[in-house]
Amino acid sequence: MPKATFYFPQGFLWGTATAAHQVEGNNTNNNWWAWEQQEGRIINGDKSGRACDWWAGRWREDFDRAQETFQNAHRLSVEWSRIQPAPDRWDEGALDRYREMLIGLNERGMTAMVTLHHFSNPIWFEEMGAWENETAVDYFAAFVRKTVEALKAHCKLWVTINEPNVYAVGGYLGGMFPPGKNDLKLALEVLVNMVRGHAAAYKVIHDLQPEAQVGFAHNYRSFKPATWLPLDKLAVAFFQKVYNQSFAQALKDGRFNAVIKRVRIPEAAGTQDFLGLNYYSRDLLRFDPRKLKELFTRRYYPKDADLSETGFLANVPEGIIESVRWGNQFGIPMIITENGAEDSKDTFRRRYTIEHLHQLWRVMNHNFPVRGYFHWSLVDNFEWERGWTQRFGLWGLDLETQARIRRPSVDMYAEICKTNSISAEVVEKYAPEIYNKIFPV
Ligand code: FCB
Repeated sequence: MPKATFYFPQGFLWGTATAAHQVEGNNTNNNWWAWEQQEGRIINGDKSGRACDWWAGRWREDFDRAQETFQNAHRLSVEWSRIQPAPDRWDEGALDRYREMLIGLNERGMTAMVTLHHFSNPIWFEEMGAWENETAVDYFAAFVRKTVEALKAHCKLWVTINEPNVYAVGGYLGGMFPPGKNDLKLALEVLVNMVRGHAAAYKVIHDLQPEAQVGFAHNYRSFKPATWLPLDKLAVAFFQKVYNQSFAQALKDGRFNAVIKRVRIPEAAGTQDFLGLNYYSRDLLRFDPRKLKELFTRRYYPKDADLSETGFLANVPEGIIESVRWGNQFGIPMIITENGAEDSKDTFRRRYTIEHLHQLWRVMNHNFPVRGYFHWSLVDNFEWERGWTQRFGLWGLDLETQARIRRPSVDMYAEICKTNSISAEVVEKYAPEIYNKIFPV
């Protein structure tokens, strides 16, 4: 049997990613909490509730778990509605708590990465129309100033905004995120204001901390035409431009171009030190004149796809190579800020993770500058409109008792982090079904 060990560069960041609303519990002052109280918004009427109970202190035991399993970094987000409960009020106690968490990471020898906006908004901000208005930019910048000032001694890796494209599509096209609208024009307006918000945040952070590394986390989706028909190819070109290209492009040269909306945002040019890539899956695209709401496009997975537990993701590891090659056009280092799968049985996750890391290793051998990998996620957490039906954790969570369940993936990932490599032994032990695929004879 052929064997090999695939080594990653020295100093590679190995971690997991989380987001405040999904893990903290009792985030009662934001738009998601309000959304969860409305009937029909979340599968099964699930609620975030106590979530993983981090706000009450359970982050400590989970950070221990991460450290003991050789992760050297963690990406978390801060909750705006806690830090600024009202437009004219700051909560120093909340900032103290985040400071403690970051110190907690540093004490465990782990690099901290902080996301400043991860989907949730304070209720007061949501009531003002949130990112629909340009006034959002100054509010966001003030929040970023306050937060970075308080936390900069313990962190220098900042993600301004998580997945602006998912935020805009979820809240303003698909409607499964608050505020549940379906309005393409508004969705693009939101994206433009988020570009402005990112640019303002970039400047604020660098003002306060010249050595900071600032980026955003982009949800890179791979799109392929379902057939050879030119209209399918056109759909792919359109989605590539609007969904994948527009935001990052504006941060490069100040030109936002979403085909049907073009705006000059000169202050955004050159506001990226690294590119965060969240890669999960690939869609086939089929032009369909009946799908008005979906921009005349049907998106689906092929019939023979290797699907995750709830059918949310298809396992398409070569897409991670595509995302890195695509990201390289911006000429800055990249970090995989999210990648993972929902799987309570922990079989799919193991092959999915190994295959994605293997492809990442391959593309990095061509000297694409990727500096780290953050698996989504450390422990099962509240999956937005999908509630608790999706289990993305390396560790499982028993919601009732708050007990953590050690899935085999914990130990698999620990071996990878510890040795900074993927070995044939790890593949054989944790995902024997793909051994021949990774080591073909
Ligand atoms: C990403 C989100 C993250 C989590 C994963 C599964 O789009 O950034 O919060 O929900 O998907």
